[in-house]
Amino acid sequence: MTTTATRPGVGPTGPRRSRAAITAKTLRTDRWWLAPLITFIGLGAWVTYATVRVFMHNYYFVEAYHYLTPFYSPCLTDRCVEGSALFGTPLPSFWLIPEAAFTLPFLLLFRLTCYYYRKAYYRAFWLSPPACAVPDGHKTYSGETRFPLIFQNGHRYAFYAAMIISVINTWDAIIAFRSPGGGFGFGLGNIILLGNVIMLWAYTLSCHSCRHITGGRLKHFSKHPVRYRVWTFVSKLNVRHMQLAWITLGTLALTDFYVMALSAGWFSDLRFVG
Ligand code: FES
Repeated sequence: MTTTATRPGVGPTGPRRSRAAITAKTLRTDRWWLAPLITFIGLGAWVTYATVRVFMHNYYFVEAYHYLTPFYSPCLTDRCVEGSALFGTPLPSFWLIPEAAFTLPFLLLFRLTCYYYRKAYYRAFWLSPPACAVPDGHKTYSGETRFPLIFQNGHRYAFYAAMIISVINTWDAIIAFRSPGGGFGFGLGNIILLGNVIMLWAYTLSCHSCRHITGGRLKHFSKHPVRYRVWTFVSKLNVRHMQLAWITLGTLALTDFYVMALSAGWFSDLRFVG
């Protein structure tokens, strides 16, 4: 009997590793392909929507209420409409340059290097591997030990950038409590903007790097009570990191769509005050 025989396989260390010699592609009989398929469709749809919106260069600001979509924040090109640019307009209006050209690359990096999204797109897009106990779709696999994937290890720095961008998004949400006359105002758009910002903070703070920054490398929690408390809070969020990753994709798209709809005049904001 050679049931325990092995053959060269793929793994982080290449052919030096070996795996069970089974001829079937996988012994799994459940619908293991469903999760990667849903991920593929969900992420694919979101990236398509976001790309179209970012290069639309239109319908991103509602001047009357100061609603700015997060996809265009901060607005930095010559094209930025009156009142939408908080930090000036240092960038030219070339169509390939998004209005938020300084922040979008960092946000993209933050999500691309996120531990959860890595799992998601490695499985759904690269089939590497598509699921547990299902063979890798590629002949070789070097993990994150070489260029370019070794840069995934810089996730912590993208986290720092994301924190700054979350502050900017928060400010956008605060200054949107405005009526057309200039005083305090409050409408459905504010709830959507605020909800999005709260979820963005929850996602950002639930980051694995954040958890390590707050509580990592400590020998005695008792000697660092503040860091321990923060770490405990972050840890509670951290167990929901995957859900928050998806929820924030939803709130970002909803916020952007709502601002676009108002800006394009498809319907009016539901106002409670002002
Ligand atoms: Fe997902 Fe850091 S691990 S954002």
